[in-house]
Amino acid sequence: MLIHVPEVLTQDPLQQAREMLLKAAWEDGRGSAGYLSQQVKRNQQLPDSDPVARKLGELILLALDRNALFTSAALPLKILPPQFNRYSVGESYGRHIDGAIRPVAGTVHRVRTDLSATLFLSAPEDYDGGELRIEEGLTPREVKFPAGDMVLYPSTSVHRVNPVTRGERLASFFWIQSMVRDETKRIMLFEMDKAIQNLAADMPGHASLVDLAGVYHNLLRAWADV
Ligand code: NI
Repeated sequence: MLIHVPEVLTQDPLQQAREMLLKAAWEDGRGSAGYLSQQVKRNQQLPDSDPVARKLGELILLALDRNALFTSAALPLKILPPQFNRYSVGESYGRHIDGAIRPVAGTVHRVRTDLSATLFLSAPEDYDGGELRIEEGLTPREVKFPAGDMVLYPSTSVHRVNPVTRGERLASFFWIQSMVRDETKRIMLFEMDKAIQNLAADMPGHASLVDLAGVYHNLLRAWADV
């Protein structure tokens, strides 16, 4: 399931991020790709240790912490430090699959990638091409969201970034290990949470809300690993 999380970043931090990224020290994205991905990856990336990447990464993590839709959909246990990429004209990232386990740079820790996230930093009208194409379900979906919006998708999906044909595409990308690794269970919890929120808005104070919230938390207790 693809989940659109709108307005993770608002205009001011977005503008600040773009200005910082304009002056950043970009490197060839192939340096961080596995053997198969290296052959199809043509983009630029900031190294993990780059001060701009660190500062903007913290900004994004703080924004995610306050984002109820993200929390409900991802049920995050661990989030890898956000990374940043740039696609100039002619650059793309061919069909690939993200590695299942990723080390946390500079530590002994590892994260299982349950969900992949792309946070769009460039406005869609500022570049052509550059759609994120995700093969999930029967019909592949092409995603190109407004600047500040994010897509969450299962890391089990093969995906690619179409060639950019005009302008420049800036994005942040990162991975999440969920408390609930099974996607079917995670989606059921997400749907149930949404239904409870809607019911609470339509029928505030209804006695069954407490019982439904109880079922939600008991399922989460049964399924979550923390
Ligand atoms: Ni990928």
